Order: sequence, then C-alpha cells, then structure tokens
Amino acid sequence: MSMKTALRAVRGLVVGAAVVLAPTAMAAGRAPTPKECAAHPTNPVVKGGCIVIDRKTGNCMACHVIAGTKMDGNIGPRLTNLRARFPNKAALYAQVYDAAINNPYTAMPPFGKDHILTKAQIREVVDFLWTL
Ligand code: HEC
Repeated sequence: MSMKTALRAVRGLVVGAAVVLAPTAMAAGRAPTPKECAAHPTNPVVKGGCIVIDRKTGNCMACHVIAGTKMDGNIGPRLTNLRARFPNKAALYAQVYDAAINNPYTAMPPFGKDHILTKAQIREVVDFLWTL
C-alpha cells in the first residue's frame, strides 16, 4: 500500500466513524435543535429530546431548565445528572409517567397516566433524559 492509499484509507475510516457516531452523539447532554429533530427522525435520544422541547407534546421546559433550551422554567428542578438521582431508567420512566408516585402534591402533569404522551414516547423521553 502506498503512503497516499494508506492516508486515504485512514481518512475514510475517520469519516466513517464520524458518520456512525453522529446520531448517538447528537442531542446527548442537551436538547436537540429543530434541524436535528428533522434530520434524525428515528434516533430514540433525538426523538425523546424533540418530544421534551415540543410545546405540543412534552413542553417540559415550561417548568424545567434543560441544557440547550432558551425557555428556562423554574417550577421544577433543573433536569441534569438524572443518573445520579434515579437508580435506573425504570424509576425515571415512573416519574414521567406519573410524578404523583414520588410526590402526591406535585405540579408535574402525569404524562403517561393522563395519556399526554404514549408509553413509547415516554421511553424515548427517558432515553434522552438519561444523557443529561
Ligand atoms: C407544570 C410543571 C411541570 C412540567 C410541565 C413538567 N414538570 Fe417535571 N417536575 C415538576 C416539578 C414541580 C418537579 C419537582 C418534583 C415534584 O414536585 O414532583 C418535577 C420533577 C421532575 C423530575 C425529577 C427531577 C429530580 O431531579 O428529581 C423529572 C425527571 C422531571 N420532572 C421530568 C419532566 C419531563 C421529562 C417533563 C416533560 C415531559 C416534565 N418534567 C414536565 C414540574 C413539571
């Protein structure tokens, strides 16, 4: 293999890796942009982030500070480092499904119990929250 061919192969690998990594790296740790929502309609983390920031679905930033959003709600706590606050995704799912299980007087809407979001949507929301 010539030096040139070797370099080209390496470059191809780097580009290939970036393409493979992009969808999971996208929107991890912060809310996705509308552009990312349109570009990655099947990635569960991106989809969950898009549900969270869509005013017609989750609208979670109405009450919570979420990295990557401008509208910082202050009714609930900042949504960050949830892996340290919840033992697993199931516990986080339960919080979003019906926050009353942790606080009977909560102001947070019971997104699952009241069918505001579907179970599949809540699973995607949790996949996104787990990256914050
Ligand atoms: C009307 C306000 C409101 C909305 C909308 C809301 N929440 Fe909350 N949320 C709260 C409050 C208040 C708390 C604090 C705990 C409690 O009082 O139940 C909370 C707590 C949480 C917690 C626990 C945080 C922690 O560190 O313990 C998570 C996770 C959460 N909300 C996720 C969401 C998600 C995801 C959405 C959107 C799908 C959302 N919330 C929408 C008010 C809201």
